[in-house]
Amino acid sequence: MAGVGSRRWVGVLVGVLAGVLLLCGIGVGLATWTWTRGVVDTTGRVSFVNRLAIPPLAESRIDAQGRRVFDLRAQPGRRDFGVGGPTRTWGYNGDYLGPTLRARRGEEVMVNVVNGLGEPTSVHWHGMHLPAVMDGGPHQMVRPGATWSPHWRIDQPAATLWYHPHPHGRSERHVYRGLAGMFILDDDASDGLALPRRYGVDDIPLIVQDRRFDSDGQFDERRAFLGGVGILGDTLLVNGTVGPYLDVTTERVRLRLLNGSTARTYDFGFADDRSFALVATDGGLLEAPHRTTRIRLSPGERAEIVVTVRPGERTVLRSYPPNLGVDFFNQRFNGGDDTFDVLQLRAAATLRPAPEVPSRLVPIERLDPASAAKTRKFDIAGRSINGTGMNLGRIDFAVTRDTTEIWEITKQDGTPHNFHVHDVQFQVLSVAGREPPPELRGWKDTILLEVRREVRIIARFADHADPNMPYMYHCHLLYHEDQGMMGQFVVVEPGQRPGRPPTGHAHG
Ligand code: C2O
Ligand code: CU
Ligand code: CU
Repeated sequence: MAGVGSRRWVGVLVGVLAGVLLLCGIGVGLATWTWTRGVVDTTGRVSFVNRLAIPPLAESRIDAQGRRVFDLRAQPGRRDFGVGGPTRTWGYNGDYLGPTLRARRGEEVMVNVVNGLGEPTSVHWHGMHLPAVMDGGPHQMVRPGATWSPHWRIDQPAATLWYHPHPHGRSERHVYRGLAGMFILDDDASDGLALPRRYGVDDIPLIVQDRRFDSDGQFDERRAFLGGVGILGDTLLVNGTVGPYLDVTTERVRLRLLNGSTARTYDFGFADDRSFALVATDGGLLEAPHRTTRIRLSPGERAEIVVTVRPGERTVLRSYPPNLGVDFFNQRFNGGDDTFDVLQLRAAATLRPAPEVPSRLVPIERLDPASAAKTRKFDIAGRSINGTGMNLGRIDFAVTRDTTEIWEITKQDGTPHNFHVHDVQFQVLSVAGREPPPELRGWKDTILLEVRREVRIIARFADHADPNMPYMYHCHLLYHEDQGMMGQFVVVEPGQRPGRPPTGHAHG
């Protein structure tokens, strides 16, 4: 009896052990599968068969008041991206993305924004210094069928800005479906420099976005499973072109890079690791070009680079795994280990000569930390800033007109986040207590945060006081923004108290 019983126990034990081992095996297998699936690498796998689309320059007219007037209509459409569509899309004045708006410093502009969609949207002028009522944030919603006509004076240096929707809780979807465009500003200082400037010829806008297509060729709006950043695609679109190539006809070409993705960060460089000159960041030209082989851009950031090519050669603009400033797990599942072939440059057999990139670009007046009227702290974690989520009815703080402020921003959690401020371009004073690297020494409006590495920025709030209408500051990973990782500030006259933001109104 005892022998049979112990043999039975041995049998049970062996069975349990085998079961545990099997489960462990499945577990390890699943983990390995998830881990390897968590990475995208398109190196050498993109066939560059489509000529890069160049967004058309928006037509404009001068009205009776001397304003340059543009028309933008947000509308649904269909686009064949060559991946089994047609894909249902949204665009401005077309089926995907929008025309490039272009204006000069000192000009008055007006944009008639028509909402041809079935739901409310807004158009925000990212990087633009302008009155809060014209900003196109969540307080300037445009109802379906309505027109909103903001107008303002261009009062900032030449730069590569952009426009996109900003409806609270819906920005990720609206941008993902295709609503975005560039807004290029010109001025005398930049015109006076020997930089490539022929739009679409040697001065090329590059709106880089990642998308995932489902089996019907539609945009897949599902968010990444283990990552926390929202939608991460496995297919790159540049200006809406999949597998794009660009014919280069000049010795030097200027690329205006815009990270128009909702969640993905890129680290741009070339497949052959050639260096290039970084000449501008978010808010305009640098003081001097910065020679480098990589430029990291988180969602919303821009960079202008000048690349030199040799006759007849081909080279590929690539995105290398970007340091997201997080641990290895978050790095892997938020796109930090991904590599993409972005765009092929095809140099003509004979190239038009182009001058060297000037060694000095524009002077940048340094904002003096000693002149700051106020220092504020921003703790970024989870889906909140300083412990609170976005509330459209609450003004978080007021900045006095004509003062300078220092903002100290620290990311306290392991998820990738960046930080964007409306109204102003800022200067970076320090990153984790050190001098900012060369790519952060020019004007910026968006900056990637790394875990517990404090970023100190300084900005001047020169004008446009309005106690009731706030500007936004937020994480530009649009899923986070939608979830409330955003706050509002007003600019007030000296001694004035903040008022109350308007509630629940839309134009039309
Ligand atoms: Cu690009 Cu608040 O936005
Ligand atoms: Cu903005
Ligand atoms: Cu975030």
